[in-house]
Amino acid sequence: MEIRFEEAKQLKEKPDQKNLGFGKYMTDYMFVMDWTVKDGWKDARITPYAPLSLDPACVTLHYAQETFEGMKAYRTKEGKIQLFRPQMNAERMIRSNERLCMPAFPVDMFVQAVKELVKVEREWVPSEEGTSLYIRPFMFATENALGVHMATSYKFMVICCPVGAYYAEGINPVKILVENELVRAVLGGTGFTKCGGNYAGSILGQVKAEKMGCAQALWLDGVHRKYVEEVGTMNIMFKIDGEIYTAPIEGTVLAGVTRDSILHILKDWGYKIHETHLAIDDLMKAGHDGSLEEAFGTGTAAVISPVGELVYQDDAVKVNDFKIGKLTQKLYDYLTGIQWGNVEDKYGWTMDIDS
Ligand code: COI
Repeated sequence: MEIRFEEAKQLKEKPDQKNLGFGKYMTDYMFVMDWTVKDGWKDARITPYAPLSLDPACVTLHYAQETFEGMKAYRTKEGKIQLFRPQMNAERMIRSNERLCMPAFPVDMFVQAVKELVKVEREWVPSEEGTSLYIRPFMFATENALGVHMATSYKFMVICCPVGAYYAEGINPVKILVENELVRAVLGGTGFTKCGGNYAGSILGQVKAEKMGCAQALWLDGVHRKYVEEVGTMNIMFKIDGEIYTAPIEGTVLAGVTRDSILHILKDWGYKIHETHLAIDDLMKAGHDGSLEEAFGTGTAAVISPVGELVYQDDAVKVNDFKIGKLTQKLYDYLTGIQWGNVEDKYGWTMDIDS
């Protein structure tokens, strides 16, 4: 794929790497490509980061035909910049798009677009401990019409921003509210996709959680409101009596890249994994009888986030005394060690942007 480059007249001042927060500072450039029924994908370009001009009748504003991905670029001590399993994001976006009736963006083009944009923005990849360049590929319908139908034109874009920790708590444990009224996904719906609509529907749960002093909501299955599925921006895992429990990927839960990586590592470390429907009552019971040893969320933005407390209806359990568990810390150190190039990447998960 040939990518046209349009130079920015002026570059932005870079933010203080010690106070990046999450998703606040966009870089100088963005990748853009258009799709039409007639021509397919065309006009790949990296242009100065700028607002878009949209017709008020643009179907995405009304019917939310939109998908996105989340990934990161890491600067190693030697100054190399590497991506983490970018093909998995590309493949997941194809699955999301299929469900949303949107065109596939081929894996090789996706990886090339991300690599080339990060190369242009290499000065934006931060070096401060715990920081990275967050990359947000996304696609949306651009046709202007008010009838509900599969659109005939789309844009694929990539934007980037240097980030620190997703949660204000950083790697410290967070309190999670188990949501027992609202539901996030049911089989046959869009739960497994990374589409904006899933997140829009989850915000009320997030607001409720924050009102209760919690960082996020933990969603139960949409039919019985009984089995643990995922948290707002991450998958979730539990260590109960030395074994690992997490929800299966069957259509309602997002197939997280971090989730997959952590399960790989845990299997290699000899842990027994249960990808199963864990009932919230059994989880709370395990919390009370002490067999729930650790709980942690996994996600690209959140990385590995220890859960220190679960609040469910009028019950609450502390996990590991609201302290980060030994295994959680070990996983965080090992995974981020691979990502930042401090630990040997024996799985071949990292990709040098200059290779
Ligand atoms: C990610 O972990 O990359 C995500 O996309 C979560 C996001 C909604 C902040």
